[in-house]
Amino acid sequence: MNAADWTAVDDYIAQHLLGDDDALSAALINNRTRGLPSIDVSAAQGKMLHLLARMAGARRILEIGTLGGFSTIWLARALPAGGKVVTLEIDPTHAGIARANVEAAGVGNRVDIRVGLAIDSLIDMTDEAPFDFIFIDADKASNVDYVREAIRLGRSGTTIIVDNVVREGQVLDGSSKDEMIVGTRRLFEMLRQEERLDATAIQTVGSKGWDGFVLALVR
Ligand code: SAH
Ligand code: DHB
Ligand code: MG
Repeated sequence: MNAADWTAVDDYIAQHLLGDDDALSAALINNRTRGLPSIDVSAAQGKMLHLLARMAGARRILEIGTLGGFSTIWLARALPAGGKVVTLEIDPTHAGIARANVEAAGVGNRVDIRVGLAIDSLIDMTDEAPFDFIFIDADKASNVDYVREAIRLGRSGTTIIVDNVVREGQVLDGSSKDEMIVGTRRLFEMLRQEERLDATAIQTVGSKGWDGFVLALVR
């Protein structure tokens, strides 16, 4: 099996389980047209986030790393009436495209996009806690800081997901100078010691290659 097969299976999954979704398709087309990198979660991963948020009964969701809002739309659709997604993005162009996409998807009233360095936004969010569900998908070098903030802004029972923690197996390379890999390895060291979390990591293959995510629960 190779990457083309993984993509073909993702297509098969999407055809059977995800259906045609005009708002999400339009968001992806808009993202590509406007030149955003194709690093949105896959459709199958987006639906997984959506289902996990519903399983958690999440009413307040925090996302770190918005891009064009593809994952944001999946998460916003998981909310009950009155729920909110707060999503953090450093790039005002990305945030503007995301705003247009979430509005077009009909979930604009449930999504709050904050432009700035995520760590600065997080530090200012104390009075908005607790969040029930937190998806971390921004600069991987900062993941230790983001998980620490996620614990602070969560509560007992908060779900924390961290995207892209395997990176084609590069996570094993202790001599890597790539700050994404160094950051990911620091994250695993932190999780090993962090007594406030119960965590696992799951490897994935699919249209985005070989990667994986951390799934953690605040004790
Ligand atoms: N969650 C999105 C993909 C996010 S891509 C989806 O699945 O659809 C990562 C995003 O994080 C990019 O838009 C990038 O601009 C943003 N980002 C990178 N560093 C950041 C930082 N320090 N603070 C906030 N956002 C950051
Ligand atoms: C990259 C970032 C992501 O969040 C992702 O899911 C895949 C790739 C990247 O920066 O290369
Ligand atoms: Mg990602």
